Amino acid sequence: MTATIIDGKAFAAQVREKSGKKVATLKAEHNLTPGLAVVLVGEDPASQVYVRNKGKATAEAGMKSEEIRLEMTATQEEVLEVVHRLNADPTIHGILVQLPLPKQVDEMAVLDAIDPTKDVDGFHVINTGRQAVGLPAMVPCTPLGCLMMLKDTHGDLSGMNAVVVGRSNIVGKPMASLLLSENCTVTIAHSRTRDLPTVCRGADILIAAVGRPEMIRGDWVKPGATVIDVGINRIPKEDGKTRLVGDVCFSEAVEVAGAITPVPGGVGPMTIACLLANTVTAACRQAG
Ligand code: GUN
Repeated sequence: MTATIIDGKAFAAQVREKSGKKVATLKAEHNLTPGLAVVLVGEDPASQVYVRNKGKATAEAGMKSEEIRLEMTATQEEVLEVVHRLNADPTIHGILVQLPLPKQVDEMAVLDAIDPTKDVDGFHVINTGRQAVGLPAMVPCTPLGCLMMLKDTHGDLSGMNAVVVGRSNIVGKPMASLLLSENCTVTIAHSRTRDLPTVCRGADILIAAVGRPEMIRGDWVKPGATVIDVGINRIPKEDGKTRLVGDVCFSEAVEVAGAITPVPGGVGPMTIACLLANTVTAACRQAG
């Protein structure tokens, strides 16, 4: 059996188009242009690419896009000052501080300083808590994108066994919480989990978010399962160039799974699409 490939790029284009239409309506009927500010501290090449792509997508959806760059040596006070300014700016409805931050800056303190209503990353503890107890919340973009693809594939997820491999605050934990809200039976596996292959083989839904290239093998996948690969790993090729691979060995897993996301073209495009959707949601909520 060969799995259905879940086309994240095409799905993301639909989500982005929907956000674009909502932006047009907000502008025409409420004179409201949603605005997203992205803060980048330092010159990490991968972060620069992400930030550039986010800015481009925001502008393409008809929203205001502001990019704030600080030096690698920026102090915690300087980063907090930017966050406070953006919190007070009525033309900015979403604030995203690109992670990781340089080590002299306390990441949790910066995330905590973002106005929770503008927290389009959904990383503020208020949003984490609100989501966990079932209140309206900003939901982290990557897990939200994964959930949208799962619901598109399955409809109702109730009663399914979901295994999330990885327990980061950005993906693993919020993903598990979202799946629990969808009535899945959720297992969070991590580096200390015993017999990970056996745990994974119990999954109807397998989410890989560990950041280790091709760690999850084909024989870890239950036949017919849906596999969502959050990993984006750049590995060297024989010719000296690099290629992108996920946390799942795609060529093996595709032979066993019922449906699978590719890398690239799976989860990645959905993350940006969800960021735009979250910004529109934030703008609507702030407008009352
Ligand atoms: N770095 C890697 N992923 C993310 C993300 O989703 N949001 C932010 N702010 N930084 C990241």
